[in-house]
Amino acid sequence: MKASASAPGKVILVGEHFVVEGSPAIAVAVDVRARATAEAAEGDLVTISSRELGEASFGPGAGGGPLYPVYVAVQEIFKRAGRRAGLRLTIESDIPPGAGMGSSAAVAAAAAAATARLLGLPLSPDEIAQAALAAETIVHGKPSGIDPAVTSYGGAIYFKRGAKPERISADFGRVRLVLADSGIQRSTGALVARVLETKRRHPEVLEPLYKAAANLAEKARSALEKGDFATVGELMNINHGMLSALGVSNAKLEELVYAAREAGALGAKITGAGGGGMIVALCWSEDAERVARALSGIAARTIIAPVSEKGATSALEG
Ligand code: MEV
Repeated sequence: MKASASAPGKVILVGEHFVVEGSPAIAVAVDVRARATAEAAEGDLVTISSRELGEASFGPGAGGGPLYPVYVAVQEIFKRAGRRAGLRLTIESDIPPGAGMGSSAAVAAAAAAATARLLGLPLSPDEIAQAALAAETIVHGKPSGIDPAVTSYGGAIYFKRGAKPERISADFGRVRLVLADSGIQRSTGALVARVLETKRRHPEVLEPLYKAAANLAEKARSALEKGDFATVGELMNINHGMLSALGVSNAKLEELVYAAREAGALGAKITGAGGGGMIVALCWSEDAERVARALSGIAARTIIAPVSEKGATSALEG
């Protein structure tokens, strides 16, 4: 018997970095997915293979290497099930890694969902998110939990650290998200640590900015619920300036953001940890192709990403 699962990538519309210290953030799942297949195997080893990262086997003891976080997510499922099992797990992902689209959380969520399905353990989105968060903690050190929440729930999510994620009812039918990749790979964990260190050195300067980011996320939520995308775009532009103030922008990201705005985006900003990775431009549907064309000449890749209402899903096969 085999179980398969998939989980979407994500785009943070407002509030990255600020979310690590307790401000709310808003993110949407996008239909670029990671997939996992789980099959029962003899013994109690979990063998994980990926086209990009090779193959590794993990026993009940310690582990390491690039596939270890995926094993940590699987182990969380074993803990919930109250038993281990021998497994052969295959993972693959269409989500560009290290680009701000939550690829590691989506891979971990897909692996957790496939394993749970194979073991006959029904899981809520929260439980899948918790398994993916255990993996994220290995990858990023101090994650807020927003990436695991969005990939597990799907749709648009209002997220505050430590609180249950809330689905926002927003209709994205009239808009598109255009993503442009700077081509610069970076480590989310290192950027989060750097921002926290800057905040520690200048609390009297940056604490008001964190408060402003919280207000911004609240306004963005109500604008999204009203379908007021012009305001959402304006707030995204303001949020980009705040992220620059935290030190996570660079010349390439600014070039992409300004090119998107000049080509008619409602708003454009860094999405994810910054330092490289992607920018997101919010556009009216009819403007998306034009914005994508303007970006494609200067970006390593451009994606027009449909919002995915579907979070992590799984099914048994044969
Ligand atoms: C990464 O997608 C978003 C950050 O805010 C880190 C986190 O929330 O874990 C930069």
